[in-house]
Amino acid sequence: MSLKNILDIEELNKTHVLKIIESTGYFKEVLGRDLKKVPALRGKTIINIFYEPSTRTRTSFELAAKRLSADVINFSPSSSSMKKGETELDTIKTILEMKADLAVVRHKDSGFVKYISEHITIPVINAGDGRHAHPTQALLDLFTIYCHFKRMEKIKIAIVGDILNSRVARSDISLFKKMDLEVFTVSPSMLLPEDMSYFDTKNFECIDEIIGQCDVIYMLRMQFERQNKKFYPSVREYNRFFTLDFKRFNNMKEGAILMHPGPVNRGIEIDGRVLDMEDRNLAKIKIGEQVGNGVAVRMALLHYLLSQK
Ligand code: CP
Repeated sequence: MSLKNILDIEELNKTHVLKIIESTGYFKEVLGRDLKKVPALRGKTIINIFYEPSTRTRTSFELAAKRLSADVINFSPSSSSMKKGETELDTIKTILEMKADLAVVRHKDSGFVKYISEHITIPVINAGDGRHAHPTQALLDLFTIYCHFKRMEKIKIAIVGDILNSRVARSDISLFKKMDLEVFTVSPSMLLPEDMSYFDTKNFECIDEIIGQCDVIYMLRMQFERQNKKFYPSVREYNRFFTLDFKRFNNMKEGAILMHPGPVNRGIEIDGRVLDMEDRNLAKIKIGEQVGNGVAVRMALLHYLLSQK
């Protein structure tokens, strides 16, 4: 079954995911060439519409489009006529009059990207909406895991931190379970949704309980901008039970990898000195590799949506 949009992991079946992972492998190989460009989307126009700040996602979508020879427009709401009262939907419809072929949208409100997709005719990719979903991050995370282990089934992964406010956690857990990874969460109860039955994962209240058993330790960013009250007593308390410090880094299972979607709050999710060892621990710390894989996976998605008949 072909897809019109990429809005949420729930819409993808295993066949879609395997096809995207295979295609990402091909585009990763393209990115390793001297000439890192193919003419696959020549003549197509992609518009990036980011209502929320982004470094990795916006830049990698732009680069992915350029590597596929598409034209790219980066629309910035903060300097647009929205400041003069134009609505978000009217703004998007106005831009699309200029004949874009695909829109990449990020917004602070859950469900906003789906709402936009229902009001315009071109394909839409969700680049992150509120607490709801970040499907392209989940796909690049899965691809990074697959590149390292050469399999997905039975990989044990602990997702650590602010599950409640994280769209990455929602999309990752959904995708990893779909592809038969074994998923655990590690989080204090105040950073978990009240109803965890949706995830159907076992939760641990201290990282030390599980760190030596997992193939992947995935640290989530603390979503301070979405926390409307103080959820945890102090950074010091958080450090005691959850932060990936030197000792915990050394206690990881042999062959295990450390991941984070970025941007990292140094000293909260991960000790800054552990992060600074990435250059000497490329087989173990995959945070930079995740960013690089983001370009390839977004090339695969743009190509998939724009080359369907
Ligand atoms: N991981 C992620 O979405 O990063 P940005 O906010 O920098 O795009």
